[in-house]
Amino acid sequence: MLDSQVIQRGLKTVVLKPELILVDTVDSTNSIAKGLIRRGASEGLVVVAENQLSGQGRQNRRWHSPVGGLYMSVTLRPRLSPEKTPLFGLLSACAAAEAVREMSGLQARLKWPNDIMLGERKVGGILSEVVSVGESICGIVIGIGINQNTPPSRLPDEIRESATTMLGELGRETSREELAYRTINAIDRRVANVENSSSFSPVLDEWLKTNTTVGRQIRVHEGTDMIEGTAVGVTPLGSLRVKTATGEKELPIGDVLHV
Ligand code: BTN
Repeated sequence: MLDSQVIQRGLKTVVLKPELILVDTVDSTNSIAKGLIRRGASEGLVVVAENQLSGQGRQNRRWHSPVGGLYMSVTLRPRLSPEKTPLFGLLSACAAAEAVREMSGLQARLKWPNDIMLGERKVGGILSEVVSVGESICGIVIGIGINQNTPPSRLPDEIRESATTMLGELGRETSREELAYRTINAIDRRVANVENSSSFSPVLDEWLKTNTTVGRQIRVHEGTDMIEGTAVGVTPLGSLRVKTATGEKELPIGDVLHV
């Protein structure tokens, strides 16, 4: 079982005032956090689960969540213009990748937009969801899923080739509490930086340094179309810039395949 005191002791946040909610089996920590934010939860509320029965991934996919992984949702109440909200996904991916690197030595990098990669295999992902009441945004829930102490044999067949786990790569278990507090601290530091400078430039610079998509030949599904080209960068709002045979396109969302 996760030990909340170990997480609490490791927290060194400046902006976020973390309130930890540790739960056993839930449908989805993001669903719980969204409900709590609608009911007025403060910034920094963190929900961590032992496992999830209906973990949600990006693009309406399922996030397979057996015991051993880290499943955590952090609530933010950004004081920035709403069009910037996708950038919190990139920010959180940078933070989680740093936490993985620093605690394990594994060379975690990023695939656009928010996939946390070990080599060409995905070890974690971020689902950031905006919570609105009527027209106004009342917060963002950052859902972080990392295949941490998950035996690779527990990964479902359909992702066995494309996914990996920290346990599989390292050959030993690591502390989920440590990954949780390091990730929260790393998000906090970046949020503080963005708010102090009113700029996401440092986040975009870090993302560009850490990503493995820009410079690559890629394929992306856009609705029913398939776009092929070279990833050449990201826009100030985090969309992927792709140079195709018919000109440059900017993709706000999508699933990238490195080819
Ligand atoms: C992705 O598809 O890459 C994003 C996966 C995000 C999964 C996490 S696990 C904790 C949180 N709760 C959810 O239901 N999803 C996110």
